[in-house]
Amino acid sequence: MTIRPATRDDAEAIWRIFHEVVAGGDTYTFLPDTPREQAVDYFLGPGIASWVIEDEGRVIGMYKLIPNHGGLGSHVANASFMVDPSAHGKGAGRAMGDHCLDQARQAGYEAMQFNFVVSTNTAAVALWQKLGFEIVGTLPKAYRHRQLGYVDAYVMHRFL
Ligand SMILES: CC(C)(COP(=O)(O)OP(=O)(O)OC[C@H]1O[C@@H](n2cnc3c(N)ncnc32)[C@H](O)[C@@H]1OP(=O)(O)O)[C@@H](O)C(=O)NCCC(=O)NCCS
Repeated sequence: MTIRPATRDDAEAIWRIFHEVVAGGDTYTFLPDTPREQAVDYFLGPGIASWVIEDEGRVIGMYKLIPNHGGLGSHVANASFMVDPSAHGKGAGRAMGDHCLDQARQAGYEAMQFNFVVSTNTAAVALWQKLGFEIVGTLPKAYRHRQLGYVDAYVMHRFL
């Protein structure tokens, strides 16, 4: 698997993966019918640093790295990850997570924060904990899970 900066040529793959992930209604707050333009903009919009991961030449996932806040909060990074559901469990998320932490350090960030990790998203919570993140807050019933109804969301954080 290789990780490289995302370009406009990746828009179709990004859209395909985004759509499949949000259609599940179990990980992101995006509505399942979020339009293509909004999806592509989320990863390739102005000022957004993003990367894709390829397996045998096929894009199977992507992540973006942005400041969590502007101004006096801009030393804390935020990131979003999506792996093609058909490629889950093969190490792509772990590889992008490690890559993202390196990129964030190189960019001068001092910490990374995930603002909204759905508490029932066991793959994500386990992966972020393995990468050194701690749950620093719980937002009660903040997510309307497609199958489970209202579930908590976590704020997860680590210093870099
Ligand atoms: C979360 C996500 C990025 C993980 O990517 P992935 O490629 O499936 O994960 P990996 O195969 O790299 O596994 C990473 C680690 O998590 C563990 N893991 C994966 N799925 C797990 C599960 N369901 N339960 C517990 N641990 C799990 C793996 O054992 C692995 O640990 P290791 O590195 O020590 O071997 C991916 O599932 C995804 O895109 N989900 C939908 C979108 C999403 O939830 N994004 C994150 C929002 S906060």
